[in-house]
Amino acid sequence: MAEVQVAEHESYPFVVISNRLPVDRVIKPDGSASWRPSPGGLVTALEPVMRARVGAWVGWSGQPDLDFAPFDSDGIRVVPMRLSALEVQNFYEGFSNDTLWPLYHDVIAPPTYHRDWWETYVEVNQRFADTAARISSPGAVVWVHDYQLQLVPKMLRLLRPDLTIGFFNHIPFPPYGIYSQLPWRTQIIEGLLGADVIGFQRLADANNFSRAVRRLKGFVTKNPIIEVPLVDESEGVRAQGPVRRGQEFRTVVAKQFPISIDAAAYETLARTPAIQARARQIREDLGNPQTIMLGVDRLDYTKGIGHRLKAYGELLADGRISVEDVTLVQVASPSRERVQTYMHLRDEIELTVGRINGDFATISHTAISYHHHGYPRDEMVALYLAADVMLVTALRDGMNLVAKEYVATRFDDDGVLILSEFAGAADELKRAMLINPHDIDGLKDAILAAIAMPKRDRAARMRALRRRVIENDVDKWSTEFLRVLNNSRGARGRKD
Ligand code: G6P
Repeated sequence: MAEVQVAEHESYPFVVISNRLPVDRVIKPDGSASWRPSPGGLVTALEPVMRARVGAWVGWSGQPDLDFAPFDSDGIRVVPMRLSALEVQNFYEGFSNDTLWPLYHDVIAPPTYHRDWWETYVEVNQRFADTAARISSPGAVVWVHDYQLQLVPKMLRLLRPDLTIGFFNHIPFPPYGIYSQLPWRTQIIEGLLGADVIGFQRLADANNFSRAVRRLKGFVTKNPIIEVPLVDESEGVRAQGPVRRGQEFRTVVAKQFPISIDAAAYETLARTPAIQARARQIREDLGNPQTIMLGVDRLDYTKGIGHRLKAYGELLADGRISVEDVTLVQVASPSRERVQTYMHLRDEIELTVGRINGDFATISHTAISYHHHGYPRDEMVALYLAADVMLVTALRDGMNLVAKEYVATRFDDDGVLILSEFAGAADELKRAMLINPHDIDGLKDAILAAIAMPKRDRAARMRALRRRVIENDVDKWSTEFLRVLNNSRGARGRKD
């Protein structure tokens, strides 16, 4: 990959900031290093957006203590940020992924609160804001992404009041009863309110946020508008309570913009003869079972992988299905491997997979084909094409783009999507088989119904799902967000 130096004075009219870059520096045990595509839905969604625009993408390289000059990565100008080993521990593994991540996902795992993690979070957010301020041209649009960088909007506004600032939260925003646990709940709200537009995945997330603003700041919210007294920013004074008569205020828009994928790109890949041949090969290699079920997730406790395994294991134990007829392929890509909860999860999942395979696999048929690594997109599309039933059983998920990828791939109008009602995608993909993953009996029944579903019903459902995913693709998502952001530029008012 060519590394192109950016001149010191170079600045951009459009800047995206996220903790992850589209590429991740990976260092192998033999010491050799390379850039690889980054994990997760944020990068999947933002990559096509950035390819279509002139701008820069600021983010962390994925390794501690490494400096990289800005470079071009497949048509995207990338500006890597350095994080020290301690910052990776406190900011990334600690506050982002052991405090905010579990808190924002309904405390499925208990969040940990450490004051030194918070201090590093503030410092790192400030550095991201400083970098964005330095490389943004006058009047630029800066789009900040996700829970790792919630303080950046306010910091950036203080440094560069000329900028238009958007923020998008890729994960859920929790109900106030949960959010209020956070010792720094007010600072986070103030950080976010530095943006002109704050985007969420679902209406429920936007409502939870507005409620937190009312409870913690007392500002007036008239969905989707929030009135923020101007005194809050320029003078570093913390405003409290509604805007008073004669007082000036800035309006902030907080609303849902459900994120999506480049659906056409997935369909194009799915129509490629080589990928279709690979899908057939996968079926054959698995022993041509009548039904292949597929799960594709980062190995994360929010994804409900254990619930899915439990349902499948019980169906085998009950004798309602057999390994000759139904195989489960589970891709669990490595994630946040130095965070304790993730280490435990891996042990738990791999123990369960081992048990189920030990109990039910035969010499010719495995029960679960388990893969603890990520795959390139071509292979993922082949897997989607090979899968009769796609299992998305998240306990809580901002959106879940895997569900949309499966649908985009199935141009043959076949395949059944089982989708958790706790994934943001369930708001749109209503013709999926919606399930509650906590209800194991319900999940088992849904699996059996999916396996037995007549072709006509599968096709009718898949056609409806495809219409949604094709119409609401990622281009529409970014265009709509940026349209609202442009309209909101500098919106002000005075209370009469
Ligand atoms: C989710 C988050 C992203 C994150 C991704 C991968 O999609 O919303 O912000 O980048 O997971 O997680 P990681 O910790 O590897 O960046």
